Amino acid sequence: MGTVVRVLLGHHGDAEVGPGLVDLAVNVRQAPLPPWLSDPVTASLSTLAAYPDGATARAAVAARHGLPPSSVLLTAGAAQAFVLIAQAFRAATHPVVVHPQFTEPEAALLAAGHRVTRVLLPPPYTLDPTLVPPSADLVFVGNPTNPTSVLHPSSALADMARPGRILVVDEAFADTTLGPSGEPEPESLAHRTDVPGLIVLRSLTKTWALAGLRIGYALAAPDVIARLAAVQPLWPVSTPALAAAAACATPVAVAAEAEIAHSLAADRAHLVSRLAEIPTVTIAAVPQSSFVLLQIPGADKIRLTLRAAGFATRRGDTFPGLGPDFIRIAVRDPATTDAFVEALKAAIPG
Ligand SMILES: Cc1ncc(COP(=O)(O)O)c(C=O)c1O
Repeated sequence: MGTVVRVLLGHHGDAEVGPGLVDLAVNVRQAPLPPWLSDPVTASLSTLAAYPDGATARAAVAARHGLPPSSVLLTAGAAQAFVLIAQAFRAATHPVVVHPQFTEPEAALLAAGHRVTRVLLPPPYTLDPTLVPPSADLVFVGNPTNPTSVLHPSSALADMARPGRILVVDEAFADTTLGPSGEPEPESLAHRTDVPGLIVLRSLTKTWALAGLRIGYALAAPDVIARLAAVQPLWPVSTPALAAAAACATPVAVAAEAEIAHSLAADRAHLVSRLAEIPTVTIAAVPQSSFVLLQIPGADKIRLTLRAAGFATRRGDTFPGLGPDFIRIAVRDPATTDAFVEALKAAIPG
C-alpha cells in the first residue's frame, strides 16, 4: 500500500485539536485524576532512579480480570500492543482488519511488512463474522469499535475464533459500555480463557485521562503473552505508568469506572436527543461508547466551519469504509453538547 494510505491511517483526533478549540476530536475523558490515582503516580516520582519493575502492576491487573499474571502483558498504551502483535506474528499469511475501526492495527501490520485484507462492514456497522475469510490467521476487530461506537455481541466475536487463528479484540473503550440492565462491560471477553487464540487489548488512557502517560495491556494465553513479550523493548512501561495500572485495577477503580459509564450514558442520551433536532444529521450507528459517528451531507466542509466556530471534531474520511460525509464527536457534558449543537445548526448550509 502507498504512502497516502499510510498517512491517512496515521491521522488521529489529536491532530485536530488546537489552542482555543473545544475538543470533541479526541475520545479521552476530560477530568482531573482522582486522588487514589494521582497519589500513587506522584509518589512513584521519588523512585525514578530505579528501573521499572512491573510485577506488582501485572499481578493487580491479572487479579482484576480473574487471570494469572502470565496472561497479562503491560504495554505503553494499547497502541504498543498492535506493534508487538504485528511483529510477533510476522509468519501470519492472511492478516485481516475489520473496518471501519481504529487505524493503528492496520498501520502496524503494514509497517511490519504484512499484506492486509480489509473487511468493510456495511452500515449499520454490526459485525458479520461470515465476512471474515476462513483462511484469515490474524484478525483485528474493535469492541466497542472506534469510530462507529458499535458494541458487538461477545458471542459473535468468540465465534470468529479458530484453531490456528489469532483473534485480536481491541477493548480500549470496553469500560465505557453498559448492558441493558446497567451492567458494566457486558460484551467484554477480557476474562475468557476458553476462546482459542484470543488477545484482548485494554487501554487505561481513555476513561482515566492518561493518554500522555501511555499505559494499557494485553490479555491472552500465557504462550501468546510470551511471544508478545519476546518482541517488546526492555523496560517498556515507566514506573509512573505502572503505578497507574495498579491503581486502576483496584475494586475502588472498577466501581468508579462503572459510575463514569453511567454518567456517560446520560450525557450520550442528551447528545443524541439534541442531534435529533437537526434533520440533515444522521447518527450513523447505535452509539454505545464515549463518541458518536455522524453522517451529514458535506460533513468535510461543515467540520471546517465548526473549527472556525471553535469546535474541533474528528474527520471521518480517513477511516476505511467511511467518507467525506462523516465526522466523529466525543460525548461531553450537556453544556458543551448544547453549545456544540447550536454551532452545528449554524454550520449546516440552509
Ligand atoms: C480503538 C482504540 N484502540 C486503541 C487506542 C490506543 O490507545 P492507547 O492510548 O492506550 O495507546 C485508541 C486510541 O485512540 C483507540 O481509539
